Amino acid sequence: MLHFDNLNKLLNLHAFEKITTMQLLPLKNYDISIGPVKDMMPLFFEKHHFTKVFILVDEHTRGLCLPYFLQQEFAFFKDLRIIEIASGEHRKSIKTCTFIWHSLMEGGADRHSLMINLGGGVIGDMGGFCAATYMRGIAFVQVPTTLLSMTDASIGGKLGIDLSGLKNLVGVFADPAAVWIDPYFLKSLSVRELRSGLAETIKHAIIADPQLWEMVKAINSPETADWSQLLIPSLRVKQQIVEADPFEKGIRKALNFGHTIGHALETYYLETDTPLLHGEAVALGMMAEAKLAVSEGLLDQSGFEDIIACLKKYYAEVTPPKPDPKKLLQLMYTDKKNKGGKIGFALPTGIGKVRVDCFPEEGAVIDAVGELWQV
Ligand SMILES: NC(=O)c1ccc[n+]([C@@H]2O[C@H](COP(=O)([O-])OP(=O)(O)OC[C@H]3O[C@@H](n4cnc5c(N)ncnc54)[C@H](O)[C@@H]3O)[C@@H](O)[C@H]2O)c1
Repeated sequence: MLHFDNLNKLLNLHAFEKITTMQLLPLKNYDISIGPVKDMMPLFFEKHHFTKVFILVDEHTRGLCLPYFLQQEFAFFKDLRIIEIASGEHRKSIKTCTFIWHSLMEGGADRHSLMINLGGGVIGDMGGFCAATYMRGIAFVQVPTTLLSMTDASIGGKLGIDLSGLKNLVGVFADPAAVWIDPYFLKSLSVRELRSGLAETIKHAIIADPQLWEMVKAINSPETADWSQLLIPSLRVKQQIVEADPFEKGIRKALNFGHTIGHALETYYLETDTPLLHGEAVALGMMAEAKLAVSEGLLDQSGFEDIIACLKKYYAEVTPPKPDPKKLLQLMYTDKKNKGGKIGFALPTGIGKVRVDCFPEEGAVIDAVGELWQV
């Protein structure tokens, strides 16, 4: 079992001030830029030249984000093709990938073409996967347009799709050429989507950053939160963790807090009348896994209450019907973090502290999930 105490000290967080103009978070292989996207494009296209540019959108980002994205009409968009897919997690499938690969082929994409993924985590994960596999890999840029994809999904090089309803079962690790984060896109997001995105920032705070935790607790509501203040420290947690452990051998597993139960819940409700958004499922997952941390003797009661109070503040209304515990457990047994037939968890031991490679007994997992429907 690996224990990471005070991850924030290890990671040198809070090196950035409020976003005023474009800010750079440099990684080893690419940069994350935060600010107006129009400032990022000229710099990027000065350095990189492409035969064709393809932009992947869904019906929402085509209408709400693409006009803003293209407003400069730079010369590099001359040979531009738009690939549009339908939105939704259930489209994150091999069938949609086949459509995207065909669109690239029919549009004349060669190894020197660029794919820009303009959308939420579904577009980023699947568009990145298609780009990383088309002709054994073409360049791609992630332009996240949801809070969840800005703070989490667009960084770290995890790309993939769902298979037979199982989340992210097929995929690759591959770095984008760049990540462009423009908070302007948040303006058209629904309150529910903003709340969903907030869950990953809460997770980053719990596993690594007590200072961010205080900021998160002080938010009145996600729609009025000052995201220019919150985005950078949240991104910083993910950026530094994935830099330290790109292929999830150790410290990166900390990012899975809330996700073992969260992914099972998300999958469970996907084909029902009450599907959960990714962040909603992760929020419920964090509540159950915080309980599990208590029953495993890792987290004290006051730490638990602190975490639950914060999560309840934003997610008290997320109340899907009680799931069948056996089916949920079956889903957890397909999780990629498992080892030797045991379900793997990353559990908090306090704010800013986390333990990975925890393998609690089945009964404790069922009890922790059951608690979600007790109150
Ligand atoms: N790769 C990773 O490390 C990682 C991490 C976390 C989550 N994910 C994945 O991300 C996905 C969830 O991402 P998501 O929450 O962004 O969901 P999503 O991509 O489904 O987007 C949510 C909805 O918001 C719409 N939308 C996008 N941008 C908009 C905007 N600016 N204004 C209005 N509507 C907009 C989309 O069309 C969609 O309907 C899941 O598949 C999850 O597995 C990946």
